[in-house]
Amino acid sequence: MERLPEDFIFGAATAAFQAEGAVNEDGRGKCYWDEYLHRAESTFNGDTASDFYHKYREDTALCREYGINGIRISIAWTRIIPDGSGKVNQKGIDFYNDMINACLEAGVEPYVTLHHFDTPLELFKNGDWLNRENTEHFVRFAKICFENFGDRVKKWITINEPWSVVAGQYIIGHFPPNIKYDVPKAVQAMHNMCTAHAKAVIEYKKMNLNGEIGIIHILESKYPISEKPEDIRAALLEDTLANKFMLDASLKGSYSESTMQIILEILEKYDAKLDINEDEPDILRKGAELNDFLGVNYYASHFLKGYEGETEIYHNGTGKKGTSIFRIKGVGERVKNPEIETTDWDWPIYPKGLYDMLVRIKNEYPDCQKLYVTENGMGYKDEFINGKIEDIPRIDYIKKHLAAINQAITAGVNVKGYFVWSLMDVLSWTNGFNKRYGLFYVDFQTQKRYPKKSAYWYKETAESKVIK
Ligand code: FCB
Repeated sequence: MERLPEDFIFGAATAAFQAEGAVNEDGRGKCYWDEYLHRAESTFNGDTASDFYHKYREDTALCREYGINGIRISIAWTRIIPDGSGKVNQKGIDFYNDMINACLEAGVEPYVTLHHFDTPLELFKNGDWLNRENTEHFVRFAKICFENFGDRVKKWITINEPWSVVAGQYIIGHFPPNIKYDVPKAVQAMHNMCTAHAKAVIEYKKMNLNGEIGIIHILESKYPISEKPEDIRAALLEDTLANKFMLDASLKGSYSESTMQIILEILEKYDAKLDINEDEPDILRKGAELNDFLGVNYYASHFLKGYEGETEIYHNGTGKKGTSIFRIKGVGERVKNPEIETTDWDWPIYPKGLYDMLVRIKNEYPDCQKLYVTENGMGYKDEFINGKIEDIPRIDYIKKHLAAINQAITAGVNVKGYFVWSLMDVLSWTNGFNKRYGLFYVDFQTQKRYPKKSAYWYKETAESKVIK
């Protein structure tokens, strides 16, 4: 029988832009997604999302009822500082005070993210993370949040998934500003985000608020599809670019020699360099020293093949199986492993990749004492039949990943908790409302919540700690 530790957190995750809606209420400013999803060609927007802005009391009550004792929420920068860098909006502060209190009253610990993909529009237009001035604005925003909520929020996450942000913005091009195949911009933005994270950690620790702070990375294991040297190399290159570069920056506080060598080799193919300011190595080092935990978001792993050509990417955003293409110049090509099942969005379902990643972090980054799996879940076209949602594949997915975590704990990795993505169905950045992840089904017309079969299963698991 597999049993998770008694104090293990059974959580569920949300993010402001994907859940809140109410984009024009109480003085909220615009983030770049607001503008982007209102362009003529867009088929959905985030104006109402899952109406979490008005329903957080109901949703935290659901958490309590279903055994969920941790919730990831994020604070919309634009509710606190509408233009990102100017005046503070008291109504935004009041709103999150209420939301945080609601979580605590329901006995659900809030894990609060400061940046979950939603840079304020003004700062986005001004270069987003490529502009170092914006990292200063971010740190100011972070400090305002620590000051106002730090008495009650004891778990902080600076930034969610730098890799997804920069890959979406500058490589795949399905996130604004929709730039394609520009690996150097992606690398630079990742470095700047890790520096911003470190600065926010340093500021937090100065305030002696007696809580913990960390960063979340999306960490997908990269395996060679064969034993051929070029395939092994491709896996190493993608791993360095998408995982190791930022793990080094945020957990070790410096880029190891082998990491830097590979990154510079990749950049050379684009005739580009990485720009590191004089004071940044010191900031990264201090930030890593003070960092308390790492959040691991995990959905899939990838299988790599050597590739010498130009970049070519087709992002399967519609759930049409077998349509993805992902080849990066100077890195490698993701290929299908016939032995491994995928979701309709071509994401390989591979719990062992999570186990491998957790164990690897323990071995390669021994200073990282504490981990959470801060997102994991299955995007699925749920069917709502007579008020019931029988999401068996999702239960199976979560079960296998929880078992992989338990195995990692047995192997000595200090994983303290797990957060299902997502608590209720929310907006998906590139799929709108068709790709559902929630434990609770949302009827987006009425905003009514319905527990899926997975919600009942999760409750039983959270209460018994037994994976079955
Ligand atoms: C992650 C994001 C999250 C959600 C899931 C499916 O990359 O952190 O907001 O969209 O993917």
